[in-house]
Amino acid sequence: MAIEFQTKAPMDVRWNPEQPIEDVEEMGKPDTPPELVEEISELRRGFGKDLVLLGHHYQRDDVVRFADKRGDSLALSQYAASMQDAKFVIFLGVHFMAETADMLTDPDVPVILPDMRAGCTMADMAEIDDIEEAWEKLSELMDTETLTPITYINSTAEVKEFVGRHGGTICTSSNAKKIIRWAMEQGERIMFFPDQHLGRNTSYELGIPLEKMIVWNWQEEDELGGNTSDDIRNSRVILWHGHCSVHQHFTPAHVEHWRNTNPDVNVIVHPECSFEVVQKADYNGSTSAIINTILDAAPGTKWAVGTENHLVQRIGNEVREQGKEVFSLAPYACLCSTMFRISPWALRDSLKALQEGKFRFRITVDEETRKWSNIALERMFEITAKGNGS
Ligand code: 13P
Ligand code: SF4
Repeated sequence: MAIEFQTKAPMDVRWNPEQPIEDVEEMGKPDTPPELVEEISELRRGFGKDLVLLGHHYQRDDVVRFADKRGDSLALSQYAASMQDAKFVIFLGVHFMAETADMLTDPDVPVILPDMRAGCTMADMAEIDDIEEAWEKLSELMDTETLTPITYINSTAEVKEFVGRHGGTICTSSNAKKIIRWAMEQGERIMFFPDQHLGRNTSYELGIPLEKMIVWNWQEEDELGGNTSDDIRNSRVILWHGHCSVHQHFTPAHVEHWRNTNPDVNVIVHPECSFEVVQKADYNGSTSAIINTILDAAPGTKWAVGTENHLVQRIGNEVREQGKEVFSLAPYACLCSTMFRISPWALRDSLKALQEGKFRFRITVDEETRKWSNIALERMFEITAKGNGS
């Protein structure tokens, strides 16, 4: 199927090499009124070191500019775990990130998410009741002591608690290899929630053939998530049927388009992209790995990037002076629309509320959930600190 590369992108991402650079700069200007920027800066100054703002790489420019620490999911969780002086945290990311920060900070430190609609569609695909039900069915087929559950950090606190209680752990896109390698050493097979793509891509890189991976489709009426008992017994990896609604937009045809039209372009994608896309790409890695690869690349190189467009736009602007060119892999906008809910206005309102001693909106994880999730997170930090590779 021929792909039509539009002449007008719905946002300011530079996806088309024909697009004049001036257009991009013009479109890339933040539209936040200067008075609002001043108001936020003033409010923020009032808190000094008592407040820490954590921002994810996908966050829009007019919000992430206020982050004290910007990073990928692993870096932000490590930072939250190491904070000493903060009395309040504002998370410029999505719900699961704020929940994780709440687990890792002192229970007296409120963690604020400026807009409660900033969820993660992938995390929503793994509900704890569906997981408990699947586990129950699997326990009739096998000793679940030999099954190690791993959840991607993009999951609810309840799912993190579940893996903690069942001897498993958590991974991010930057430590997934180390974590899955560890999990394979614990028993006969692993169950990976909620992102089938990260689970498949990483397991494959570790040498597990695709035939040994099955998908547990929680939407299937069927007793065994769409599998036979033989499929399950023969498997080494049981992947939950979940995905990221942003990364599923990138297709193998997009990679082919760039290869055909710009043979010297390097293709780099996030491992939440499908197996076929990752296989066709030159590189894959976490948001920080994508940024660092482009920063470290030689001047004059060109990059087609398969991840959220705010990151792509920002890194493109950053390296333009070094003569590097960065494009979005897809011809249309791929935005994390939930993270985009955190607007400068929402941030201003959360800061104002905090100034008045109110929380708009506080994310809290209860004591029991925190206990088991933190066991899982501690395991993740330990495994990450040991061994080689990502
Ligand atoms: P990173 O851990 O690579 O920052 O990814 C987080 C995420 O949600 C990607 O969609
Ligand atoms: Fe969730 Fe996808 Fe947004 Fe990442 S990009 S936070 S996985 S919806």
